[in-house]
Amino acid sequence: MARINSNYSKLAAGYLFPEIAKRTREFLAQNEGVTVMRLGIGDTTEHLCPTIVKGLQDEVAGLGTSDGYSGYGNSEGIDPLRQAVADLYKGFGAEVKMSDVWISDGAKPDSANIQSIFSADSVIAVQDPAYPVYVDSNVITGRTGESKDGCYEGLVYMPCTEENGFFPEIPSEKVDLIYICSPNNPTGAVATKEQLKGFVDYARKHKAIIIYDSAYAAFITDDSLPRSIYEIEGAETCAIEINSFSKYAGFTGVRLGWCIVPAALEVEDGGAGKLHALWGRRQNTFFNGASNIVQAGGLAALSPEGQKECGELVSFYLENARIIKDCLEGVGLTCFGGDNAPYIWMKTPEGITSWEFFDKLLTECHVVGTPGAGFGPSGEGYFRLSAFGHRENVLKAVESIKSNLKL
Ligand code: MLT
Repeated sequence: MARINSNYSKLAAGYLFPEIAKRTREFLAQNEGVTVMRLGIGDTTEHLCPTIVKGLQDEVAGLGTSDGYSGYGNSEGIDPLRQAVADLYKGFGAEVKMSDVWISDGAKPDSANIQSIFSADSVIAVQDPAYPVYVDSNVITGRTGESKDGCYEGLVYMPCTEENGFFPEIPSEKVDLIYICSPNNPTGAVATKEQLKGFVDYARKHKAIIIYDSAYAAFITDDSLPRSIYEIEGAETCAIEINSFSKYAGFTGVRLGWCIVPAALEVEDGGAGKLHALWGRRQNTFFNGASNIVQAGGLAALSPEGQKECGELVSFYLENARIIKDCLEGVGLTCFGGDNAPYIWMKTPEGITSWEFFDKLLTECHVVGTPGAGFGPSGEGYFRLSAFGHRENVLKAVESIKSNLKL
C-alpha cells in the first residue's frame, strides 16, 4: 500500500506566490475592467540583452549542424561557463575554483536540493523572515515538527528586525545548517563583512555549514559590501554558495544558476572532499545538466559585453526601487532595503497586519505586493514591494499609491 510523505501536510499553507496570484485573480474576477500593477513576485520583466540573445541563437544554430550538435552534457555544466563563474568571483576578490562550481537550472532548485546531502537530524537555522524554500524543503524532508503559531517545532529562527538592522545574531545554541541570504529576500538588507565573519567563525568552530544565497549580489552598488561569502577568510571550509542568472540576466523563465560546493568543506563526520563528492553524486543521479542552449546564453551573459548589458538592466531595476521607496516614504511610510537590492521592505501602518495591508493596497490602489508574514513570523507587520516591473507599470503604481492609499 502506497503512503504519502506526511511531512507535506505540515506545510503551513500554499506556496506564497501562487497564493498571492490566486487572491489577485479572485479580486480581478470580482472587479471587472480593473487592471492591477504587480509588484509582488520578484519576476523580471525586461527583455534579454542582445549579447545573450546572440549566444542563445548561435548555440541553437550549432545544434542544427553535425559539428555543433551535442547530446547529454556533464551534470556539473560546461567547463567554460564554470570557469567564467570562477572568474566572476576573482573580480570581487574571492577565490573560487572552477572545479567547485556546479551549473544548475536555477537557485531555487539548488536551495531546495542542497539539504539532501546532510544528515536527516541536522538542526536548521534560518533567517526570519526568509525565502520560503529554505524552510519548506527542510519541512518536507522531516527536519521539523508541526507548525505552531507560525513557527515549526525544531527549527531555529534567527529574527531579523529593525533593531538588528535585519541581520540576525549568531545562534546561541549549536546548529548544523545555517541559511543566509544577502542581499536579503525579502528585507533588502545586505550583510557586512564583519557580520558574515561572525557566522563564518561560528560555523568553523561548530563544524556547521552555511548555505549562502547570493542570488541578488549583482544589485550591490556599495563597494564596501561583500558580494560573496568567499570574501571572508576561511569561508571555503564552511560555506556553500548559491547564485542565479535569473535576476541578473533576466533568466527567470530561461533558467540557469550555480552552486559552489568547495572541496575544502569540512563537517563533523567528513573531511575535505566529502561534501563536494556527495553533491557530485547527488547531481549525477538526479540531474542531466542545465540545457546546453541556456548555458551558452549564460556564458554570453558573463562575457565583458554581456556583463555591461546586464549591469544596465540591474541599474534599471534599482531605479525602479528608488522610485517605489521615494513614493512610500513620501506618503509617510517607513521603508528599508531597496538601495543594494531589488526589494523594498515596508513597515505596515500601526495596527494593520501584512495580509490586511495586502488587501488594502489591492483594493484601494490596485497594486499587488507581498505580505511579510508569508516569509516567516518576524515578517508580520512588514510588506515587500518588488522593483521588477516595466517602468510604466511602476510609475502607475506609485501614482495610484500617492492618490488612493488611505493612511
Ligand atoms: C520572490 O519573489 O521572492 C522570488 O522571485 C521568488 C523566486 O525567485 O523564486
